[in-house]
Amino acid sequence: MRQPRIWLAATLALCLGARAEPMKVAVTGTGGQTGGHVFRKMLRRPELFSPIGIARTERSKEALLEATGAAPEQVVVDIGLQQSTTMYSGNDRQCSAVEAAQEPQGNAGRALAGRCAALVIGSSAKVKPTGGTNAETGRPNMGFPDGQPYLVDWLAQKAQIDAAHLAGVGHVTICSSMGGTNPDHMLNRFGRTTDGRGGGILLWKRKAEKYLIDSGLTYTIVHPGGLLNEPGGKRALVVGVDDKLPTESRSIPREDVAEVLLQSLLQSDYRDRSFDLVAEPEGSGEVCTDFASLLQSLQGSSCDYSLGAIPDRELAAGRNRIGGR
Ligand SMILES: NC(=O)c1ccc[n+]([C@@H]2O[C@H](COP(=O)([O-])OP(=O)(O)OC[C@H]3O[C@@H](n4cnc5c(N)ncnc54)[C@H](OP(=O)(O)O)[C@@H]3O)[C@@H](O)[C@H]2O)c1
Repeated sequence: MRQPRIWLAATLALCLGARAEPMKVAVTGTGGQTGGHVFRKMLRRPELFSPIGIARTERSKEALLEATGAAPEQVVVDIGLQQSTTMYSGNDRQCSAVEAAQEPQGNAGRALAGRCAALVIGSSAKVKPTGGTNAETGRPNMGFPDGQPYLVDWLAQKAQIDAAHLAGVGHVTICSSMGGTNPDHMLNRFGRTTDGRGGGILLWKRKAEKYLIDSGLTYTIVHPGGLLNEPGGKRALVVGVDDKLPTESRSIPREDVAEVLLQSLLQSDYRDRSFDLVAEPEGSGEVCTDFASLLQSLQGSSCDYSLGAIPDRELAAGRNRIGGR
């Protein structure tokens, strides 16, 4: 496996550079939307952050470089995740869940976490049309052609957390989702076949979150509501726990989520906290600028992981690993 070794060496060299004032932060899912916003926001604050973006593919990396003007060495391709995805989301190869768990996924996370002060996890399985129409609903068939949640939201996030732990990273922040207290949430049905395989995205996210909490690492877990591609910095932000919020709103611009993910590394109040996050409609309420006080209304509370459900059997997980495409 020559290629990963070369990549590993290059990454370590990158991270061994002087770590003075700016915080060196690895951001995964930078080829995606929210992860991309986090990366761009950090690039714009070089006095505070020195981000390393981790993209899934060379194509994602090239697009990101073009969009941000970042130096090529500031973005790396996560060979580990890409290989694993190819190997385990294809129908041509069946393997046990134990095998999957032992695969060296998250090479990028493992390597980049070395000498990095923090890791922001923005990678996630992505629902996409998979072709054809569902005969019952008349809607397009949806699935996870780039990897099932079991792989991307559980195994790959676990690999990143393990990597951070091994490397002594100070803080891990996950961009997750609201809805985790309801195992029957409709998002869990996306990509699930009639025999119950695949899908379960909120369940697998919750398992990764609990794993992070139990790891002993300093953490922040943000559960945003529905994500909007609208400008950030224009709305009042509202926080809550356990899918209960003191507002009717259940959505938030991705840019606002990205700002909170970034602030989680700056504000001591965000350490070891898990919370829900939405925004009021524009023009309603005071625009959030004081991120240090954002969590004050929670009076120290955090999401309760005894609520909802967390898959606890890897064999059950194996049934979710393949299929549902
Ligand atoms: N959509 C919503 O309304 C909503 C609501 C609440 C929470 N969330 C959650 O918020 C987070 C951010 O969502 P988003 O829509 O901004 O993200 P996104 O654009 O879907 O980005 C997801 C990232 O994960 C990467 N990824 C996908 N499959 C992968 C695989 N097999 N291996 C490695 N990386 C992979 C993607 O890589 P590429 O760029 O190469 O494709 C992309 O960079 C996610 O956790 C999402 O579930 C979403």
